[in-house]
Amino acid sequence: MRTLVLLLVVTSVLSHCTFWHPSTFDCDRANGNSDNLAQPLQDYTFDQWWWHGNLKCPPADGVVFNLPANGEAVVELSSNKAFTSDYCGGYRGMNFPNTPEPWAGNELSNIHAVNREDVAGCAFAIAYKSDPYQVQPSDFVVFSVVHDCIARQNQSFSIPNLPACPNGKCMCSWFWIHKSIGGTDQMYMTPFVCNVTNAKSDAAAVDVANAQPPRKCYDPSSCTMGPRNPMYWKNERPNMPEEGHRAPTYSTVYGWREGAQKDIFVNTNPYTYASKSTPVERKCIDAKLNTEGYGSRIRSDNTSTFLVDGGAAIVSPNCQYICYVEANSGSIMVVNQTDGNALWYGSAQTRGLSPYTLKVLPDGQVNNYDKSGNIQWSTPMTQGVGVGPYRLDITDGGQLVLSDALGRNRWENYFFDDRENKFLSTSPDPAVWGNGDATIHTVGHSDASIIIAGWAMVLIALSFF
Ligand SMILES: *[C@@H]1O[C@H](CO)[C@@H](O)[C@H](O)[C@H]1NC(C)=O
Ligand SMILES: *[C@@H]1O[C@H](CO)[C@@H](O)[C@H](O)[C@H]1NC(C)=O
Ligand SMILES: *[C@@H]1O[C@H](CO)[C@@H](O)[C@H](O)[C@H]1NC(C)=O
Ligand SMILES: *[C@@H]1O[C@H](CO)[C@@H](O)[C@H](O)[C@H]1NC(C)=O
Repeated sequence: MRTLVLLLVVTSVLSHCTFWHPSTFDCDRANGNSDNLAQPLQDYTFDQWWWHGNLKCPPADGVVFNLPANGEAVVELSSNKAFTSDYCGGYRGMNFPNTPEPWAGNELSNIHAVNREDVAGCAFAIAYKSDPYQVQPSDFVVFSVVHDCIARQNQSFSIPNLPACPNGKCMCSWFWIHKSIGGTDQMYMTPFVCNVTNAKSDAAAVDVANAQPPRKCYDPSSCTMGPRNPMYWKNERPNMPEEGHRAPTYSTVYGWREGAQKDIFVNTNPYTYASKSTPVERKCIDAKLNTEGYGSRIRSDNTSTFLVDGGAAIVSPNCQYICYVEANSGSIMVVNQTDGNALWYGSAQTRGLSPYTLKVLPDGQVNNYDKSGNIQWSTPMTQGVGVGPYRLDITDGGQLVLSDALGRNRWENYFFDDRENKFLSTSPDPAVWGNGDATIHTVGHSDASIIIAGWAMVLIALSFF
């Protein structure tokens, strides 16, 4: 026993954690000292990471994790099964179930996220299928998020108005990605058999057909929310485009509301899937900066807006930031006009192949082509995701944002200053998000009153600056 304790203390510098319950798929079920499910998933083939490689090891017949509709589900999280209750297969119990409050004592709690900075949210997702072999990655929809997870072993998840499961069971999974500040780029997936209890007979279906991969959003008023798939990252067949050390998180930066995700149903999904009129292109007007006449937008349906290196540029409407393709290097630059610093750049693979041309294609792909028409830089995972025509704007925040015809963000560049890692996972949900109950489909207001209410929120938010 002494050896076991020592080993656990030694390994606690690494972030490892999982959800434990008899309903999990667990090929190491008989082992009360197992850390199999807590192993991170990284650089694996699809068969290795999908279902945590445990598809063949379902729970006993009839064993389910109950999700009370419109209620709370309490779970046990730990780096090792030993530190869970008898019921979950452990024998030592949770040692500090409800720490940190404040963040303290966590080194001893078998949470294995010692630093507050390391955690940025975990999530539960559900697939309305009873046969695990039929579940595809796009079948899972995230229905509950805890922003400061993993902060405590004894964790409660809020359950939205989920409808009943087919054949008395659904497939669920726990997901977690820790911040890259922890030093590694990994994801966690722990599937289990779940069942919705207290379901209302008129509860609307989850809008899985319109679920999308999450995308980052620094501007809360333009986050793509509604039904979304879990974030699959750093293994074969990912749905997240983030590079290494830029971990996507179940946090406000990705538009995740705290708690129950109420906008995932066919009658609450805020997206109508109807084309919206494109917002008018705003332009910088400042003769001193010599940017007059520059637009702020590249459009897939107007080839005259494509950026060719050697002079063409787009400038943010507030005149602060400029984007151009650098002659010779072919890099796409986003530069702060005040101090001349690059906020971000996308490098061409090969220098010296001018002219380079930055194009937004009708299928959502943004490519930088060299003189021979070879692609030198590309947006990851934007092709065919969304509805054209697409536009790439440089915003007043100094960022390139790719939007589709439905107004959804399809891609944004990150910033070299790492600002997303500075977002605290406990940041309150931005007021413009509302609580997810209000819907364009079911509310009685006219669109105009919604827009006015939205702007009132923006003005209230702005008045804090
Ligand atoms: C776990 O948390 C729930 C509330 O979320 C509480 O009722 C329960 O007593 C806690 N269990 C332990 C062991 O602290
Ligand atoms: C799932 O929940 C439904 C509704 O409460 C119930 O009829 C069914 O027996 C449950 N399934 C299992 C496996 O417990
Ligand atoms: C296409 O873009 C150019 C350059 O910004 C602009 O002058 C022209 O009016 C645009 N054409 C259309 C049809 O929008
Ligand atoms: C742009 O430069 C100015 C002057 O150094 C600075 O105050 C501002 O924060 C910079 N903007 C960004 C987004 O870095």
